[in-house]
Formats: sequence, structure tokens, C-alpha cells
Amino acid sequence: MTAVFRTIPEIRAWVLEQRTAGRVIGLVPTMGALHEGHLSLIRASKSACDRTILTVFVNPTQFGPGEDLEHYPKDFDRDLRLASGLGVDGVFHPATAEMYPEPLVTFVEPGSLAGLLCGQFRPGHFRGVATVVAKLFHICEPHRAYFGQKDGQQAVVIQRMVRDLNLLVRIEICPTVREADGLAVSSRNSYLSAKERRKATVLYRALQAAETMVRSGVRSTTRIEDRMQEVLRSEKDVEIQYARVLDRETLDQMQELVPGAMVAVAVRIGTTRLIDNIILGQAD
Ligand code: PAJ
Repeated sequence: MTAVFRTIPEIRAWVLEQRTAGRVIGLVPTMGALHEGHLSLIRASKSACDRTILTVFVNPTQFGPGEDLEHYPKDFDRDLRLASGLGVDGVFHPATAEMYPEPLVTFVEPGSLAGLLCGQFRPGHFRGVATVVAKLFHICEPHRAYFGQKDGQQAVVIQRMVRDLNLLVRIEICPTVREADGLAVSSRNSYLSAKERRKATVLYRALQAAETMVRSGVRSTTRIEDRMQEVLRSEKDVEIQYARVLDRETLDQMQELVPGAMVAVAVRIGTTRLIDNIILGQAD
């Protein structure tokens, strides 16, 4: 049976029961509209934890003006069916007023990590993410929390927050789930027209081009980034936001390649913003 909790006191009481019984709690934070990427996180939590909590909350503080907050896909009944099917123990689905009864005064500010890459195009986004994830950690008190590599910068921001603030939770980053043609599964893929959906494979093609160059011995990150730009430009009407080789912990740009670097791309196709990344040497 999957229990649904809509208020903080309700889920806290349940968490207390589970922790008192000595059970290991896994948390999977999402904004709902569940897809295979989310389901892979649930499966990872199920396999390592005694109890799995899924959170479904479209967090307004991480959306900027003019972003897709109002249109963000929502289907809680379907999400609940999928979660039950996988044996999720508790779903936390609070109303906005439950999470934000009054405007916040206190935020978690990810500092220099927040202004880079996606942060340049989405001011305030990572502050909103870090703040809501910190709130969810305090509400659900998980032993482990599961995030996707798909949102590479988000994973870095959350891992750093946990280190900086000594939070007692172990962060697990799970591999990106992809469609058969390589496109990373995302709720935002549903915004793409058929033509845009075909163009969208260019993100993974650019990442693969980087991986291929590295395998053939190229170590110059400038050459790799130039090649990715070239691949991205080969598709018309794709607006490139960035194509970078980065240190996977600091997100600093690299001059010379080191193993385990993150290669990340972001583009806009029509009105839809798409991101993707790979860790070099770890085919996913
Ligand atoms: P959302 O976009 O719903 O994603 C929830 C989790 O699923 C994130 O950790 C994300 O990285 C992961 N995910 C998304 N697509 C994936 C894919 N194709 N493969 C593997 N994992 C994937 O990310 C958020 O929500 C929010 O920012 C949140 C962390 C819930 C805070 O509001």
C-alpha cells in the first residue's frame, strides 16, 4: 500500500515511526509527470532502502518569470499509479501553501555554483532547488536521497550543499535514462513538435562526438568544445547556450582533460530548453 501525505505533520509522524523501527529511508524528490528517468531513481532507492518516499512537488521558487511553471505537466493520479506499481511506500504531495505558507526570508544560496552554466540562463533557479531540497531533507529525514545525472549541475549543487552544511544524508547520483535514439528522457520532451523532437537528438550526438574524440586521444578541451559546437550548429534552429568540458565537482572549465570530466550541453529548440551531459569514460 502506498500512503499519500499532503501535510508536513503527517509525513513527519510516519517518518518518525519508520526511523524508530530502525528502517533505512530513501528519498526521491521529483516535480511529478513521472517518466522512466524518475522510475530508475525509485528502483535504485527500493533496492537499497527499507522504505522509499517519493515527493511530487512543482517547486515555484526554482522557476523564473516567463518559465513554464503554469504549464508544467501535472497528472498526480498517474504518478501515484506508477509509484504504487513500483512499491513506493510513501508519496509526499504537498500544496504550495504547505511548503511556502509565507514568502521565505531564509534561502540556501549555492554561491558561485549557482551563476554558472544553466544558472546564467535561469537566475535564481539553483537557489530555489537547493532551498526546496533542504526543506524536503528536513521534512522527510532520509538516510539516502536519489538524483539523476541528467541534471548534472543540480547534482553538483546538492552534493556541495550536503558537504557545506553537514547534512546527514547520503546522495546517490543515478545514470541518465535515454530514449532509443539517445535523447535524455525529460518531462520537457513533451513540449517538442515532431520536427523539433528529431532535431533534439543533436544534444546526444554532440556528447558522443566528444566521447569519440577523447577515445581517439584528443586532450585539448578547446578542440572538443569546438567540435561539439560544430555538431550542434549542423541542426538548423537550435540555439546553443553552452557546450563545455567541466570539472565534475567544481564545474570549472578545464584546459587539459582529466578522467571523469563532465561534458555538458544546453540548447533551446523553439521555446523548449534542453540539457544533457555525460561523464567521459562512463558510457550511459
Ligand atoms: P524533476 O525534473 O522532476 O527530476 C527529478 C529527478 O529525476 C532529478 O534528480 C532528475 O535529475 C532526475 N531525472 C530527470 N530525468 C532523468 C533521466 N532521464 N534519467 C535519470 N534521472 C532523471 O529535478 C527536479 O525535478 C527538481 O529540481 C527537484 C530536485 C525535485 C527539486 O524541486
